[in-house]
This record gives sequence, C-alpha cells and structure tokens, in this order.
Amino acid sequence: MTKRATVKGVGHYLPDRVVPNAEFEAIIDTSDEWIRSRSGIERRHFAAEGQMTSDLAIRAAQAALADAGLQAGDIDAIIVATSTPDLTFPSVATMVQAGLGMTSGFAFDVQAVCAGFVFALTNANALILSGQATRVLVIGAETFSRLMNWKDRGTCVLFGDGAGALVLEASEESGTNADRGILSTDLHSDGRFRDILYVNGGTSTGTTGHLVMEGKEVFRHAIEKLAETAHSALEKAGLSPEDVDWIVPHQANIRIIEGTAKRMQVPMDRVIVTVQDHGNTSAASIPLALSVGKARGQIKPGDLLVTEAIGGGLAWGSVVLRW
Ligand code: UT7
Repeated sequence: MTKRATVKGVGHYLPDRVVPNAEFEAIIDTSDEWIRSRSGIERRHFAAEGQMTSDLAIRAAQAALADAGLQAGDIDAIIVATSTPDLTFPSVATMVQAGLGMTSGFAFDVQAVCAGFVFALTNANALILSGQATRVLVIGAETFSRLMNWKDRGTCVLFGDGAGALVLEASEESGTNADRGILSTDLHSDGRFRDILYVNGGTSTGTTGHLVMEGKEVFRHAIEKLAETAHSALEKAGLSPEDVDWIVPHQANIRIIEGTAKRMQVPMDRVIVTVQDHGNTSAASIPLALSVGKARGQIKPGDLLVTEAIGGGLAWGSVVLRW
C-alpha cells in the first residue's frame, strides 16, 4: 500500500462585482474586440472596497470544507498561495485559520505568483506523504485588481480577483498510477527572468507597487515551458497525454491554453476553460477552474487531471492527480 494525498472537497468564491470588457473602453484606449481576440477574456470579478484576499480565501475554504463534509477542526494545515496578501505579514493562511475558527494545526503562505497553486499543492502533498499532516486545506486567493496600473492597457484588462480551495486527505492506495490522488509533481523556476513580470513595489520602495509585464516575452516562455512541465509530470507518473481526461491550466490567455493543449496533442474538449469569465486570477485560477469544472459536471471521480501554470519569477510547474 502507498500513501496518497487525495481530493476530499473543492470550492470557490468570486466577488459580486462583475466587470465586462466594455467598462475599460471608458477609461483606456481599448476595445472588447481586442481583449477577447488577444486573451479570450470577456469579464472578470473585482473585490469590493475593503474586501481582502483573506476574505475571499475564507469563503472558498468554507465551500471546500462543506463539499468535503468536514469542519475546520478536522484540518491539520492550511497553505494559501497568494501574491496579494492583505498585509506583508502575518500570512493570509493564519488569517484564514482564525477566520475558520481553527485553533490548532499550522498555516503558511506560498508565493510563486501565477504558479502558486501548483507549488502549494506540491507542498501539501509532501506534508501528507511525510506524515506531518493528514488533512491539508490548499487555497489559491488573489486580489490582483489592487496591483493594476489603470493607465497600462497591456496589463489592466487581463487580471481579476477570486479564490479557490481544495481539501486534501491522506489515503492508502495501491501504489499504481490508477490510484486516486496526487500521482506526480514537477516544479521549476529561473530567477534570470525577473524583469519580464514583476510588481514594482515592496520594502525597496515602501509602496505596494503595480504589475509590470512584457506580455509577448511571458507568452513565449509560457508556450514553451507549460507543455514541457506537463509532459515531465506525466512521465514521472508513467502516463502519457492520451491518458489525460482534463488539462486544468492556469487561466491567463486562451491562446496560451490552446497552444499548450496543441503541443500536448490533447483536444480542447478535454481542457477546462474559465478565462472568459474570470480573467487571470493568478494563483486562484487553477482551484477556481477545478471547482467550476466539477460544478459543470466535467470533472468526475476517477478522472486523470494535469494542472500546469507559469508566472512571475519565472516560476512554473505541473501536478498530475486523479480526482
Ligand atoms: O499569468 C502570468 C503570466 N502572464 C501571461 O501569461 C500573459 C502573457 N501574455 C499575453 O497574454 C499576451 O502577450 C497579451 C494578451 C498581454 C498581449 O497580446 P499580444 O498578442 O502579445 O499583443 P502585444 O503585446 O504584442 O500588443 C499588440 C498591440 C500593441 O500595439 P502596436 O505596438 O502593435 O501598435 C499594443 O500596444 O496591441 C496593443 N495593445 C492593446 N490594444 C488595445 C496592448 N494592450 C491593448 C489593449 N487594447 N488592452
């Protein structure tokens, strides 16, 4: 028998305010047609004034716990993937811990920008496999609207706010790739590319700063690196793209999602796509897609999933799991 980190529950939360592309036409030189055709985005959600990343994370966590049929006290650890914490510290994860009324266990944040959820899942898997935790709440939560330069039309139309959460639980499985749970992980980063995607604030400036991106460059790296990491993760699990029921990609741009699927030779009807409704929600995009994909009736127990993401750092990676 082999210990695996299996999915017990999933949930998400999106702020009420929906912002269609047309709203940007009034403030910058852009059009609904440009945004749709270059990115696939039609609308995104923005958090209300005073609504923080931890608020979104708590709502997503509650939804995932309800889906799992568990209480906060059943959880040993919380990992929040975010690059938009309410405060520099304490972590959003400890705010979620308090918000859920959880007084035991431990909680911490992971910051790997848009790849954050893949990094958080990999950490949760390691905690479970090493016996340090039995049930881990893994959350991706972001309020990227707070990092936007509203004069930069190349970035401000692309991002949105939201949160998604998974409950992972240790279970004894057979040790083959037919098992449920996380089957393999594959992480990478390369700090030489810090200048193509970053936020120009922090302790060095004393301000939160704004997101700065060389879109074309990031696009080029994404197309190349995402298929590569997905292939590596599948290979580690002794699987191939034909075995994949669903690619659950980071939702940055429909053209990147299509390009990656094409390189993997997986047809688009086996890809979960939510970018049109959420925009790029950074670390929240994969758990949001998992939750929406399940709610739509696409993702079913036993399905083989590959998640893949890339973002600032650059940092990128992939997780193969059976739902
Ligand atoms: O999640 C983290 C990772 N991030 C990503 O994966 C994002 C990666 N990059 C992208 O998704 C794409 O590069 C963008 C959607 C950001 C841009 O698409 P593109 O096809 O690479 O366009 P571009 O940056 O080459 O811009 C083409 C033109 C430019 O005009 P000129 O120089 O050709 O006259 C831009 O100024 O489109 C212009 N443009 C816009 N026009 C209308 C840029 N933004 C806008 C806009 N509305 N919002």
